Amino acid sequence: MEVIRNIAELRAWRRQAGKVAFVPTMGNLHEGHLALVKEARRRADKVVVSIFVNRLQFGQGEDFDAYPRTFDADSAKLSDAGVDVLFFPIEQELYPRIRQDFNVEPPHIQNELCGAFRPGHFRGVATVVTKLFNIVQPDLACFGKKDYQQLHVIKAMVDDLNQPIEIVPVDTGRAEDGLALSSRNGYLSTEERAEAPRLYRHLAAIRESLLAGEQDYASLETAARQDLEAHGWRVDYIEVRQADTLEIAHAGEKRLVVLAAARLGKTRLIDNVEVLR
Ligand code: PAJ
Repeated sequence: MEVIRNIAELRAWRRQAGKVAFVPTMGNLHEGHLALVKEARRRADKVVVSIFVNRLQFGQGEDFDAYPRTFDADSAKLSDAGVDVLFFPIEQELYPRIRQDFNVEPPHIQNELCGAFRPGHFRGVATVVTKLFNIVQPDLACFGKKDYQQLHVIKAMVDDLNQPIEIVPVDTGRAEDGLALSSRNGYLSTEERAEAPRLYRHLAAIRESLLAGEQDYASLETAARQDLEAHGWRVDYIEVRQADTLEIAHAGEKRLVVLAAARLGKTRLIDNVEVLR
């Protein structure tokens, strides 16, 4: 595996590579990330993974500084997984002026769900992903359903801006007790880690109710929120939405997704389940 830090060098490598699959990450890699790499491997001649903790997508008071940076362990995992190039850009080269003059502005969905609690987050994601796409110029890129709203924004962006890249969604990797794998799980204390799977249990129970024909989404949302809050969580949102558009879901809708974000102590966890009939 080659580690490339410089943009010109990455471009030179790309010119002689064949079909390229790309997996953008912020590092601190776990099995969820490695499932994306495996899917990328299956679909292309060459796989590029990037590791870059993107300052633009973190708000004031968020965990940019504390975000785990574990380059040596990440690099060993990627090398074992058969990755061809690890792109590890230098921040000053990607963001010479810290803030960009030009940005990619997602539509109103950027202010809903996670966006309502993280102003500017999806603009920062769309902007960095576009920059990485312009540098790597992959044929396809893999994104996790774990970050369902992010996946939605990226798919819509590529469509609207004619970015010639196939977006491949990959299922959420979970621990045995159901907790979605996340770099932020490392912030949880032992007690919080034991409590954390409650979020997924609620999402899975809502899915069962929806599959059994329940159409009163608001009462499902409220019951889950109340139980989580009774167990010490602070719930940002738990909502049933249309799976394909992330718009508000109306009774009778066939393709749904239940999305949630909630805080345990200082850790913000997100998760979701699709309900497709
Ligand atoms: P990061 O959180 O490192 O995630 C990188 C990719 O791994 C994303 O596509 C994410 O959805 C996926 N992923 C994370 N946990 C997963 C899990 N448990 N199962 C399946 N996939 C999972 O998402 C980002 O970084 C950044 O926003 C980025 C797109 C790199 C832009 O900075």
